[in-house]
Amino acid sequence: MGLHKYEKIWLIFGIGSLVLFLAIIGFGAFWKGTHPQSHIATIDPENVEANEAFRPENLGLTKVDDDKYVVNMIASAFFYNLGKDEDGETVRTLRIPKGSTVLFQVTTTDVIHGFNVAGTNVNMMVEPGYISSYETVFDKTGEFTIVCNEYCGVGHHLMYATVEVYD
Ligand code: CUA
Repeated sequence: MGLHKYEKIWLIFGIGSLVLFLAIIGFGAFWKGTHPQSHIATIDPENVEANEAFRPENLGLTKVDDDKYVVNMIASAFFYNLGKDEDGETVRTLRIPKGSTVLFQVTTTDVIHGFNVAGTNVNMMVEPGYISSYETVFDKTGEFTIVCNEYCGVGHHLMYATVEVYD
């Protein structure tokens, strides 16, 4: 049985592309792991305090340099824990000067939550066992609501915090 010349060419082309695509998928899956960029850091969800960033005294907004801040928060049903202020009150609002660079580091102790600063492109999924982080610059003044956009239970719609960007 002889193969026609064009049949041979197409066979080689077909098998060749299959091998190439499988190689690309294999490379993507095994070379550096498959975790998306924001989920590289891992954490024990049962003991988040073991990580310095999530100790009670390090939660909330911390100034780390001129115009540079870090926000550490623990999401849980149905609350974003930003720590307490000097008066021992629960922090619900982050007050940030306009033009600041802010690194958000968020983890969860129970189920998957969302972290979306409404009106900006800050939008992360927060998964148990991982630290989701995202750095952004706040260059518009105003009040922005941080909302949970992953359904997490009966109190899902009550889960929010506020970012206030001032001049
Ligand atoms: Cu947390 Cu929805």
